[in-house]
Amino acid sequence: MSANRIAVMASGKGSNLKAILQAAERGECPVNVQLVISDKADAPALKVAKDAGVADVLFLNPKEYPDRAAFDAACAEAIEQAGCQWIVLAGYMRILSGEFIARFRNCIINIHPALLPSFPGAHAVRDALAYGAKITGVTVHLVDEVVDGGPILAQFSVPVQSDDTEESLHNRIHAAEHQLYPEILKRMIEGKFSIEDRRAVWKET
Ligand code: GAR
Repeated sequence: MSANRIAVMASGKGSNLKAILQAAERGECPVNVQLVISDKADAPALKVAKDAGVADVLFLNPKEYPDRAAFDAACAEAIEQAGCQWIVLAGYMRILSGEFIARFRNCIINIHPALLPSFPGAHAVRDALAYGAKITGVTVHLVDEVVDGGPILAQFSVPVQSDDTEESLHNRIHAAEHQLYPEILKRMIEGKFSIEDRRAVWKET
């Protein structure tokens, strides 16, 4: 199995997927996006993947499975068949089952639009704005059983401006995400971190 074959799971726009694909195309991120899975039939991320020529582009409908674990097992089958070693969540808005997380322990990474542990959940940008935070940002982390709670690989701060709307703030967060995610994937693929307790420790090269 090649160490740089990744599966991307996405529910939405797919701008992070696009940033990863473009960085790979430019030779800046040594990943081979082999498979893209979405749980939403109309996710623009599916078109992003098809336009980029990703080998396997899959919509799986959660409603066709009896429960979360069965849906996740179907995703896991597709990921293993595609020979992917890493699972990259890019705006994937479903909570993963414990079985899925255990099957791919320390191989699932997520990007979250806030500085965790502040503002976990599905509305992180809105929540940071409503709270009156002056600085928010982006977190890239490993996925474990605690939602938005796995070991942090990297963070990037984004100042909140006094006239920000959710949209304007999310636009700047997206810009930071598009830079950070390919960079961290590159470091991760090159195997330069270890997990000590819950801390991700990067090895210097
Ligand atoms: C990104 O901002 C990502 O951080 C966020 O969804 C957006 C997806 O954008 N993820 C979460 O909120 C996960 N809790 P994209 O579809 O354009 O990549």
